[in-house]
Amino acid sequence: MQKVESLAKRRGFIFPGSEIYGGLRGTWDYGPLGSELKFNIKQEWWKATVRNRNDVVGMQAAILMNPRVWDASGHTEAFSDPLIECKVCHERIRADQIDERKTHENRHLKKKVEWTEPRKFNLLVEAKLGVVENEKSTVYLRGEITQGVHVNFKNVLDSSRVEIPFGIAQIGKAFRNEITPGNYSYRSREFEQMELQFYVKPDDKESMKWFEFWKEERMRWYQDMGISKDKLRFREHAVSERAHYARSAWDIEYESPFGWKECEGIHHRGNWDLSRHMEYSGKDIRYTDKETGEKYIPWVVETSGGVDRALLFLLLDAYTEEEKDGEQHVILKLDPRLAPYKVAVFPLLKNKPKLVARAREIYDDLRKEFNVVWDDRGNIGKRYYSQDEIGTPYCVTVDFETLDNNTVTIRDRDTAEQERVAAQDISSVVGKSISTK
Ligand code: GAP
Repeated sequence: MQKVESLAKRRGFIFPGSEIYGGLRGTWDYGPLGSELKFNIKQEWWKATVRNRNDVVGMQAAILMNPRVWDASGHTEAFSDPLIECKVCHERIRADQIDERKTHENRHLKKKVEWTEPRKFNLLVEAKLGVVENEKSTVYLRGEITQGVHVNFKNVLDSSRVEIPFGIAQIGKAFRNEITPGNYSYRSREFEQMELQFYVKPDDKESMKWFEFWKEERMRWYQDMGISKDKLRFREHAVSERAHYARSAWDIEYESPFGWKECEGIHHRGNWDLSRHMEYSGKDIRYTDKETGEKYIPWVVETSGGVDRALLFLLLDAYTEEEKDGEQHVILKLDPRLAPYKVAVFPLLKNKPKLVARAREIYDDLRKEFNVVWDDRGNIGKRYYSQDEIGTPYCVTVDFETLDNNTVTIRDRDTAEQERVAAQDISSVVGKSISTK
């Protein structure tokens, strides 16, 4: 974990939020490479969930919503974690996090630590809106992106040609006043979610069929993104863990250096959200069956993943150390579709204008298709290792032979093998590796 954290900082994937001001707990900033990686993860999710399907459409709701939304969804009343306070130093932690409790108690060495009784602590983050100081109204930064979709259910029905079963997908920021943010970016106070709300007929068999479908589909996606199969598993929520309205809930977990941890949840939400919004808004948002004319409130199968968690687990899983030439080298074995740069272009020597000019031409050509990086520092070996460390799948070197016969060497990150190919074929080698499998 420490190695990944230091690589992420050193190479510009993840920085602590507001670092020069001493930071802000539970916030993380994504640097040049982190933002590319994050963008690619979201793009692959969007492709798999929306673009490659006929039964899912996308949307983007506002982060700020009428506060009544959160009354209807139950968040103002029940979106809470149990908080306990140490009577010795007054630090507050989550009562259900046994490890953190033990670590805290150990910190006090021999002193006997007494804890207050657990009390409910609401996780919604408040903000004030308005231009007149004393008349500002309290709103919430959304605690989940889900409700923005449900309150637009009718708008989507009326504006597109969707028919049940169908889904609405969304990616966006959510905010939670987590009591104990931690494990690097794993539990943050500001994070991004990628969610699908899939609407089905209110029927046990039909809804469970879709529940199973999406459960498998989501697991398949993480595997397809390159995460090792043996580091992923399903875990069913105990009834006591589930929201009272949930008919079934499973997590996809990743085996991280800090244990098996939740990556994504698949939840059967029944008709909870739509029926509550119908009740609280007083608007009829039922679905009308086009053939029978029957009106009903559909049930919802939800898949809810964290973009930041996917990114962290992908980094952890891709991080590999290999011995090369008697030295330890780091290779970030990211799937080429996710890698920040797809290809690096080097002139063999930077003081040979003809080589540099030809390499620039190749670089400019490739840039029309891919995210490409230029490197002319140090020697070729160092450049290779530098690209391995950030997961660039291919390195192209332009040498004197290129000037004679227009061929280049292309080196594969994972095998370290080099091949000579015609300059005009680089694009098809790189293109193949990032085309949808
Ligand atoms: N709409 C359902 C929902 O929000 P959740 O299990 O609370 O369900 C879904 O959250 C996903 O969002 C989690 O599986 C996780 O990937 C991500 N997530 C939740 N809280 C997070 C936090 N504090 N930091 C980073 N990611 C978080």
